Amino acid sequence: MSQLSETPVSAASFTVPGAEPMREVGRRLAARLRPGDLVLLTGPLGAGKTTLTRGIGEGLGVRGAVTSPTFVIARVHPPLGDGPPLVHVDAYRLGGGLDEMEDLDLDVALPESVVVVEWGEGRVEELSDDRLHVVIERAEGGAGAGEANGDNGDADGDGTRRVTLTGVGPRWRGASLDGLAP
Ligand SMILES: Nc1ncnc2c1ncn2[C@@H]1O[C@H](COP(=O)(O)OP(=O)(O)OP(=O)(O)O)[C@@H](O)[C@H]1O
Ligand SMILES: [Mg+2]
Repeated sequence: MSQLSETPVSAASFTVPGAEPMREVGRRLAARLRPGDLVLLTGPLGAGKTTLTRGIGEGLGVRGAVTSPTFVIARVHPPLGDGPPLVHVDAYRLGGGLDEMEDLDLDVALPESVVVVEWGEGRVEELSDDRLHVVIERAEGGAGAGEANGDNGDADGDGTRRVTLTGVGPRWRGASLDGLAP
């Protein structure tokens, strides 16, 4: 992989004040995504990776509620209309990284799908030179920070998150990531 393809080419960062706003970010992001796109979600347990993916699924108009894929490695959500399928992967379980990903025998072609990978950083980058990295952190000092989540990250209430998106590769060069903040 060349140094050049590692250079971030577009970026955005904003705070998201709760779970429903996080879904809204996902719905807005879905409108910018196209077949073949790879989205890597990074953040601690309970950060909101699945919540964001749920919004992406809603925005793409796919079948089936997006839930935590913790007990399966990947789930395919077929499109209800003529958009791309959503492939939702939990790479936490992908010990072997990319090889295992290719062995999953998903019955859709990744270049025709939107592929969203939780815990994908450091595991599945080789899938594509073009990637959208999304980092979700608990926002310091924001409304609800520190009180809405226990050590296990199992937050019941709403908390503020900081979401930082970085597009890597030619696909994202010059692509606007503005207007995603809820
Ligand atoms: N701003 C926020 N954005 C997203 N989720 C939030 C926010 N505030 C509170 N939450 C809550 O935090 C939890 C996020 O859970 P979610 O399953 O989306 O996290 P995750 O990052 O996928 O975790 P895991 O690493 O276990 O897969 C939900 O209970 C959600 O309601
Ligand atoms: Mg999750």
